[in-house]
Amino acid sequence: MTVIQEKVQETITAHGGTLINREAKGAERERLLEQAASYPKLTINEWSISDLELIGIGGFSPLKGFLGEKDYQAVVNDLHLADGTIWSIPINLAVTEAEANSLTIGDQVALYGEDGILYGTLQLEEKYYYDKLKEAQSVYGTTEDAHPGVKKLYEKGNVYLAGPITLLNRPDHSQFEDFYLDPVETRQLFQDLGWKTVVGFQTRNPVHRAHEYIQKIALESVDGLLLNPLVGETKSDDISAEIRMESYQVILKHYYPADRTRLVIYPAAMRYAGPREAILHALVRKNYGCTHFIVGRDHAGVGDYYGTYEAQELISEYESELGIQIFKFEHAFFCKKCENMATQKTCPHDKSEHVHLSGTKVREKLRAGEPLPRQFSRPEVAEVLIKGLKVRD
Ligand code: ADX
Repeated sequence: MTVIQEKVQETITAHGGTLINREAKGAERERLLEQAASYPKLTINEWSISDLELIGIGGFSPLKGFLGEKDYQAVVNDLHLADGTIWSIPINLAVTEAEANSLTIGDQVALYGEDGILYGTLQLEEKYYYDKLKEAQSVYGTTEDAHPGVKKLYEKGNVYLAGPITLLNRPDHSQFEDFYLDPVETRQLFQDLGWKTVVGFQTRNPVHRAHEYIQKIALESVDGLLLNPLVGETKSDDISAEIRMESYQVILKHYYPADRTRLVIYPAAMRYAGPREAILHALVRKNYGCTHFIVGRDHAGVGDYYGTYEAQELISEYESELGIQIFKFEHAFFCKKCENMATQKTCPHDKSEHVHLSGTKVREKLRAGEPLPRQFSRPEVAEVLIKGLKVRD
């Protein structure tokens, strides 16, 4: 065991007990790259590449590869892996029947991206059919294809391939180079900073006043905040990761204590699976070394598919198994009478005093170049968003 690993083990235990590392390095990587040239080839999409990466770097510990059928069924039916470890979202590699038929169990398969880069290999142990309607209903709580996660599921091939993977090349994160750390590195970082307790914050949006409010309440009780925005695939009307990353840097610079906050990307695809995704998000942040995780209103939700506190309710059922503590927050807003951010728990005033903006309204205003109310967004953040959206459109 290396010195780094030994030190890191003093911190919070990774999910399943061990932080997984499935990345080949140095001479071994060179050897595998050469060997893989003769393996059967499979082209995988960006979503699968991000799953491969997260398995490889240990973000999805204890997974060592794409789920076999027993684990898959256990996750879909019962939110656990077959060995009883809690796991809420199936991580699978889907292919067409023709692709599956071209491969033989026992094969080493070379996984290429659409860009022609060899990202890794799969030791093929299983191929199996799966029930899309059942997965949709169990994981997303709906079979409607208007749900972005369900739509993706329906578009996938009909066969899952399973087996351990080896990561050979990572997707390009050079535009976020300064904010890209592996779980083993964030763990080390927290130790170096002397943070014994760290709260992780997931987001796919710019940080608005409500986010800032709940983050700072959490920060009153722990040593540090890991702002850990998801930068993988999101639905097309979400604000791009490039623009958001700029906005995070601006808000941290102006409104957060530099020695108690760190910005690190979470390179996963967004599932929009609400309650089940909240559990995944918490487990992954544990792997990154966080001791606490925030779940607010409609976490990882989309449209009206989930109740405002459904994610909190589900995560509460499994809290004793998570190994990370959950900070739950009610819907936060700015109250004109209180002249402050608040929730129903702390504000006695009528709803008409509360500043509310829907995501759609925010995007409309930004695209029109209109400033957002200061009670909703820090002006420095709104400025970055307006500029970013203008450049892109
Ligand atoms: S998502 O990844 O969970 O979809 P989002 O940016 O919408 O990202 O929310 C990030 C976190 O802040 C989630 O835990 C969510 O529940 C919480 N949150 C967002 N808005 C509010 C709000 N107004 N009040 C309380 N919690 C909120």
